[in-house]
Amino acid sequence: MVKIGVFDSGIGGQAIADKLHDLFPAAKIISVNDSANVPYGNRHRGSIIQMTEDAIKPLIKKKCDVIVIACNTATTNAIDDIRKKHPSIHFVGIEPMIKPAAKLTQTKTIAVFATTGTLKSHRYHQLKHRWASQLVVLEPDCSQWATRIENGEAERIDIHSAISEVKRWNADVIVLGCTHYHHIKDRIERAAGPGIHVLEPSDAIGARLDAILSTNSELPE
Ligand code: DGL
Repeated sequence: MVKIGVFDSGIGGQAIADKLHDLFPAAKIISVNDSANVPYGNRHRGSIIQMTEDAIKPLIKKKCDVIVIACNTATTNAIDDIRKKHPSIHFVGIEPMIKPAAKLTQTKTIAVFATTGTLKSHRYHQLKHRWASQLVVLEPDCSQWATRIENGEAERIDIHSAISEVKRWNADVIVLGCTHYHHIKDRIERAAGPGIHVLEPSDAIGARLDAILSTNSELPE
């Protein structure tokens, strides 16, 4: 039986793990988080790398065949180091969906909702440079959202100023660049209204895993 590990700093990985359960019913899904250190989003890169390294140890110990880093902050800051350290393990990362957003936008303006740690990362800047250099990319302040979602206050987060910014600049795509925000996707969609697409990566992660599992014959079925 194939073992899929899922890591997020906190409850952001839950939605991804649920989706993987549905898509791969025969797989064993093992989730871990780092409740002692969440949120990662306001921390320095070095700490994010070290904490991610420590937090995924149980998944490595349990010999997961694939490990999903279900955290944009950890992926954009730490996945290169982690891959180097564990070359025999397949890692699937989650990072802001700039490329699909760039393909979708008609107004040439997109918004990325993400943590400070993601927005500051080199990887995120590379993505923007590669796929969105001709676009306006809005990055409203969402820096407290993950903490509030973690504290069970998702319904009380004031999303109004982020959505107003999106509408003021006529952005037509919002990228959910933090898996915690999947918990408020419905609210964001309702506030954004029908003309604005809200992108999140669960389907893409499912497809990526499917490709890895079907092309690596050494992995168990
Ligand atoms: N869920 C994480 C992400 O996708 C971030 C939350 C945090 O700040 O730890 O970026």
